[in-house]
Amino acid sequence: MSKIKPSKGAPYARILGVGGYRPTRVVPNEVILEKIDSSDEWIRSRSGIETRHWAGPEETVAAMSVEASGKALADAGIDASRIGAVVVSTVSHFSQTPAIATEIADKLGTDKAAAFDISAGCAGFGYGLTLAKGMIVEGSAEYVLVIGVERLSDLTDLEDRATAFLFGDGAGAVVVGPSQEPAIGPTVWGSEGDKAETIKQTVSWDRFRSGDVSDLPVDSEGKVKFPAITQEGQAVFRWAVFEMAKVAQQALDAAGISPDDLDVFIPHQANVRIIDSMVKTLKLPEHVTVARDIRTTGNTSAASIPLAMERLLATGDAKSGDTALVIGFGAGLVYAATVVTLP
Ligand SMILES: CC(C)(COP(=O)(O)OP(=O)(O)OC[C@H]1O[C@@H](n2cnc3c(N)ncnc32)[C@H](O)[C@@H]1OP(=O)(O)O)[C@@H](O)C(=O)NCCC(=O)NCCS
Repeated sequence: MSKIKPSKGAPYARILGVGGYRPTRVVPNEVILEKIDSSDEWIRSRSGIETRHWAGPEETVAAMSVEASGKALADAGIDASRIGAVVVSTVSHFSQTPAIATEIADKLGTDKAAAFDISAGCAGFGYGLTLAKGMIVEGSAEYVLVIGVERLSDLTDLEDRATAFLFGDGAGAVVVGPSQEPAIGPTVWGSEGDKAETIKQTVSWDRFRSGDVSDLPVDSEGKVKFPAITQEGQAVFRWAVFEMAKVAQQALDAAGISPDDLDVFIPHQANVRIIDSMVKTLKLPEHVTVARDIRTTGNTSAASIPLAMERLLATGDAKSGDTALVIGFGAGLVYAATVVTLP
């Protein structure tokens, strides 16, 4: 017989507040065209992207996270001192250790909140949300801050016409806390490591240890290119369109929700054609509001879902209490989908 007392958590968890930060610099397609052979029309029609935001030197991963989190805390009406854990999902914090989450927890004024980073690519927000729900129901935190933040402009090869136009920077954050009724459904998540090669970093950091990088690709000025994200666009596109619609349907089924019950659909903002195809496959009715934040935000990976959520609520296209299906998918390959009640 175990001598350990059971931990006591809340019956359920919910998102209580959301906040976003978009860097001040807006970058139109014309800027992207300075380095690649393409056209505004091609980028808009193939990806849906018209503009994206790129962070300046002051808009660091930590600074953007603190801004977004401050707004999420204000939206939730929760003081930072009550946050028990800070979970930061990012692939663009460039120090291996320590995690950026501890600096963010400190800058926000939390009371020594547990803090850690996760690397789950564009599914990172869903992974963080799932962990937060677990902590709250299990009792190890009353309130959890989940942050998705990226400076993907640092990891973009502007001379690669397959990716140069895709990525943007920004941070989105939510406060997750206790609830008396279910407000975050079961997560359907997973990984397909056999497809790891389809989205990856061009060169591992490890290569720079030897000092001999003479065989690495160079830019137009002859300088060795900084590692960047590269992908097999068509393979990822097909996977997203065929496999992720199934995962989204599984998340609806797991939550006991039919497409008719849904108010809002917030898929990862990777390509507007992927979004449109999922809407069709899922047979979402006309009344469902669909996030197409990609047009002015680009693909911000872990930040894309909370940023899109924040914008829909800010513009009044979605409202507090709406039932929303969220699904993230990307590098790994990994995915996570769930149904949530909007804050
Ligand atoms: C990147 C993406 C927009 C490219 O669109 P696509 O329709 O698949 O484009 P393709 O790579 O098949 O190329 C189609 C044609 O456009 C050309 N092309 C590629 N990039 C181009 C560009 N930037 N501008 C103009 N033409 C381009 C290709 O050379 C090809 O020409 P061809 O038909 O003469 O051979 C799309 O594949 C995509 O969004 N993939 C998934 C992205 C994603 O979800 N990533 C997840 C990260 S989380």
